[in-house]
Amino acid sequence: MGMQSTGVILLSMMMMAGTQGAMAAVSVTKSDFGKLKDGQSAELYTLKDADLEVKITNYGARIVAIGCKDQNGKMGDVALGYNSVSGYENEADKKTYFGAVVGRYGNRIRNGKFSIDGHQYTVPANNNGNALHGGPHGFDEKLWIAKQLPDGVEFTLVSPDGDQGFPGKLTAHVRYTLVGDALHINYSATTDKPTVVNLTNHTYFNLSGDGQGDILGEELQLNADQYTPVDKGLIPVGGPKPVAGTPFDFRKMTPIGQRINDKNEQLQIAGGYDHNWVLNGGAGQMKVAAKLYDPKSGRELTVSTTEPGVQFYSGNFLDGSYAGKAGAKYQKHAGLCLETQHYPDSPNQSQFPTTELKAGQTMHSETIFAFSTKK
Ligand code: GLA
Repeated sequence: MGMQSTGVILLSMMMMAGTQGAMAAVSVTKSDFGKLKDGQSAELYTLKDADLEVKITNYGARIVAIGCKDQNGKMGDVALGYNSVSGYENEADKKTYFGAVVGRYGNRIRNGKFSIDGHQYTVPANNNGNALHGGPHGFDEKLWIAKQLPDGVEFTLVSPDGDQGFPGKLTAHVRYTLVGDALHINYSATTDKPTVVNLTNHTYFNLSGDGQGDILGEELQLNADQYTPVDKGLIPVGGPKPVAGTPFDFRKMTPIGQRINDKNEQLQIAGGYDHNWVLNGGAGQMKVAAKLYDPKSGRELTVSTTEPGVQFYSGNFLDGSYAGKAGAKYQKHAGLCLETQHYPDSPNQSQFPTTELKAGQTMHSETIFAFSTKK
């Protein structure tokens, strides 16, 4: 091997080491996040590198804040939430699930009923006659056990057999790590009896900044040729349908507000977007699910996932009841969620990718939120 090629190899090894070194420069610190009504203390973990500053509490394993740069290099917080744990706990009647890990079954199950291997189960119907987001006291309300990592934090929750009506003792892990400009979320779960699992993260994004008006001017692209139309209870009916020719076609970057008030039955049922898109690429494969771009700040979010679907929820139920971190009341469309997940009501719709988890199996899932800017 000549001197020159040795030099090139050495240089590229140094560059790789340099890149890894830069990526490894993550700091993780722990602070107090206030007390719950029962006197228990909540913790706040701050993950920081050159590009991102992400705050996560063990109460609901929630993302509290995501600091990232705009097109001028100015940091801003692009996630909705509260300054202390009491804000989250005080949302009694109108839960927003801000930033939460939703489980054990994110989204809806028709009538709260399903069966596994001939056993019928009934879970609380806490949303218009259907089960929503793991029941009235789901994973979003639990204090998870946290373990600090060199580049992030891992949360563990043991949900006992029969928790919110669901069968099987479920042990769930959610690991948040920073890799450069991206926040990785790794989910895993095991059970001691057959059960159903659908874990997602319910962060509301506003790329202009928390408390900076609504998201209707932000542009969205969804990597999906089909979505699942719903009935009045927001349960999919009739299977996946093409997005082509509908206000649900986000295959090209489109401002969210452009068609949100169209005379369209599906939009009227949900008061905006609150539907599952069937991602091109399928379950288990890492692919881009969504891109969100804010022309005002130049910020862009790219969501990638191994999940088969994404629930795009345009914050339709926010109604000014609660004021957030920045002091502003969260009005309708103050933020939007891109909930990577299995399709709603999968336990009752055998043509959908399964959400069943058997004893001895491990459920794995990964979602990546990457932040960049463009002018
Ligand atoms: C999900 C649901 C919505 C709503 C929100 C929380 O996105 O699909 O209908 O319940 O959670 O308010």
